[in-house]
Amino acid sequence: MEYVTLNNGVQMPKLGLGVFRITDLEQAEEVVYQAIENVGYRLIDTAAAYGNEKAVGAALRKVSVPREDIFVTSKLWITDVQDGYEGAKRGLDRSLMNLGLDYIDLYLIHQPIGDLYGAWKYLSEVYEEGKIRAIGVDNFTQARLAEFIHFNKIKPAVNMIEANVFHQRKEDHQAMEKRDVQMIAWAPFSAGAVGVFTLPELTTIGDKYQKTVGQVILRWFMQRGIVAIPKTVRVERMKENLDIFDFELTEEEMAIINHLDQGGGYSLPETADGFENLLRALGNFSVD
Ligand SMILES: NC(=O)c1ccc[n+]([C@@H]2O[C@H](COP(=O)([O-])OP(=O)(O)OC[C@H]3O[C@@H](n4cnc5c(N)ncnc54)[C@H](OP(=O)(O)O)[C@@H]3O)[C@@H](O)[C@H]2O)c1
Repeated sequence: MEYVTLNNGVQMPKLGLGVFRITDLEQAEEVVYQAIENVGYRLIDTAAAYGNEKAVGAALRKVSVPREDIFVTSKLWITDVQDGYEGAKRGLDRSLMNLGLDYIDLYLIHQPIGDLYGAWKYLSEVYEEGKIRAIGVDNFTQARLAEFIHFNKIKPAVNMIEANVFHQRKEDHQAMEKRDVQMIAWAPFSAGAVGVFTLPELTTIGDKYQKTVGQVILRWFMQRGIVAIPKTVRVERMKENLDIFDFELTEEEMAIINHLDQGGGYSLPETADGFENLLRALGNFSVD
């Protein structure tokens, strides 16, 4: 496993397992158990809104790997962020209880919505007390990130944003690198979008190294210095996705992949109607 060093000196595994949409809790527990115990994952990415923190916690208690060798990320949902300082306290306490942990390695504000400053104030305090080893943000635009850094004492250690070969987020990445904020790519396989695993440019590169398209994509993220958290429920794919540290893409191959970029990526709606629709949709996630 390779690691990145966050801006506060904390080491974070470069490749992890995302557990979004694993809603069957028995399955979620088994997936996380297998990933850590039998495959070698050391980074698990969950969130209050995924509804599976309890299953992640149960798996963490079952594995033989020491807690300090495992890096757990979770996220504070908007229904807590909307209540600022108090909401962050409530949300973090709930995450800690659900996970059954006395500290979380990385805790993120999940969406740039709500009383971000109030929530950040609380997270900053508990970070300084050591209950969270690093705090960060999620889905922040470059401008919002710059504003947040300017007005807060504690700088976010990471910004997690959607990134894949079609939406590479090069400018966002550069802006983060300039400010020493680690980029984490969510949905690095475009959530399994049709066609991503059969792109001819990627199969050709994969054939050269006897690697799959998925491995080529993840390798490309690693060489860009970006943490990636692909999700899979299958042990074989967990192994495949982790087996990317024994080959290196050439500059020419990196450039071929860079050319697949179509721009764009996840962003919040700019119209009032669009934003209200999004808030209604997001509000449906229960975090209890
Ligand atoms: N912060 C945010 O706002 C946010 C938003 C979305 C996601 N995330 C995080 O990012 C993680 C990953 O994103 P995601 O789950 O949306 O999508 P993803 O990781 O891009 O793609 C997952 C899909 O790819 C399939 N897959 C995985 N490995 C494969 C392989 N080697 N070959 C072929 N297919 C493969 C999976 O199927 P199987 O499971 O059947 O293998 C699943 O259908 C999430 O789990 C979550 O932790 C964060």
